[in-house]
Amino acid sequence: MSLENQTYVKLNNGIEMPQFGMGVYMVPEGPETVNAVAEALRLGYRHIDTAHAYQNERSVGKAVAESGIPRDEIWITTKLWPSEYGRGKTAAAIDKMLERLGTDHIDLLLLHQQFGDYMGAWADMEDAVDAGKVRAIGLSNFESKRLEEVCETARIKPAALQVECHPYYQQHALKERVAQYGTVLESWYPLGHGDAALLAEPLFAELGAKYGKTPAQVILRWHIQEGNVIFPKSTSSAHIADNMDIFDFELTDAEMAQIALLDKGVRYFNMTLDEQEKNLGAWAPED
Ligand SMILES: NC(=O)c1ccc[n+]([C@@H]2O[C@H](COP(=O)([O-])OP(=O)(O)OC[C@H]3O[C@@H](n4cnc5c(N)ncnc54)[C@H](OP(=O)(O)O)[C@@H]3O)[C@@H](O)[C@H]2O)c1
Repeated sequence: MSLENQTYVKLNNGIEMPQFGMGVYMVPEGPETVNAVAEALRLGYRHIDTAHAYQNERSVGKAVAESGIPRDEIWITTKLWPSEYGRGKTAAAIDKMLERLGTDHIDLLLLHQQFGDYMGAWADMEDAVDAGKVRAIGLSNFESKRLEEVCETARIKPAALQVECHPYYQQHALKERVAQYGTVLESWYPLGHGDAALLAEPLFAELGAKYGKTPAQVILRWHIQEGNVIFPKSTSSAHIADNMDIFDFELTDAEMAQIALLDKGVRYFNMTLDEQEKNLGAWAPED
């Protein structure tokens, strides 16, 4: 089975990116990541979201290489940590990243966090695009005025912005802020990190019953129709299969409007910028 109905978003550089894939946050390096990515690729997934800080890029690269699928048919997104930011320093970090992934190019490279010398890093990322090592560049977790600082001064405008986004935190204002740069929104925690309360919302059960889908599938379908790029994480074969089975039904405008009312403007991840900056060392990748 392949994702025949997979949808794509056109980035501001003209490249088409699969709108749906799988994330591997908190999946350990080794068999767990290799097996989950291999299973996803076997089922038809063509987009994997990893990061240096997840410490599983080698396993993602192994699963991609062993899949037998041509490299140019698989979209790989990864992210640089602030400890790798800086003019010259980031260029070297990108080369190491390519080695860990076992590939000659990264499809989408993001700055993972809005701290440190992110402007120096961005300049190196632009050079990496020019050199053909990276196809598209973007940001993650830039929601302060640093977002505009990069967008306004960048030679290459961010193609994507990856942030927390789900029915309880729908990010409509942020989408308006980046629309002028042609930046697409990527949702992390698309299923609320598996939050039982979100999955148990009566509206999702009701819509699921109507379309013969699970609440998770209704939520993922909502993201697709919102124009969000998603990569739900799963290491369960059943969930990996279910999560991609969202391209054969469509929520009505009225149903989308009902889901819009669930927006509480409340995040799951509530650390302040100061707290995040203090914790950067604890989250930093080791090699
Ligand atoms: N840029 C950032 O700072 C950032 C931060 C967080 C996440 N991300 C990215 O976003 C991806 C997704 O976020 P996430 O993994 O934290 O959260 P998520 O995808 O919202 O939720 C994952 C959780 O939901 C469960 N789940 C998956 N499919 C399900 C289904 N069909 N029914 C019920 N439960 C299901 C998973 O358990 P099972 O494994 O048992 O299925 C897991 O516990 C990450 O993997 C990562 O790539 C980026």
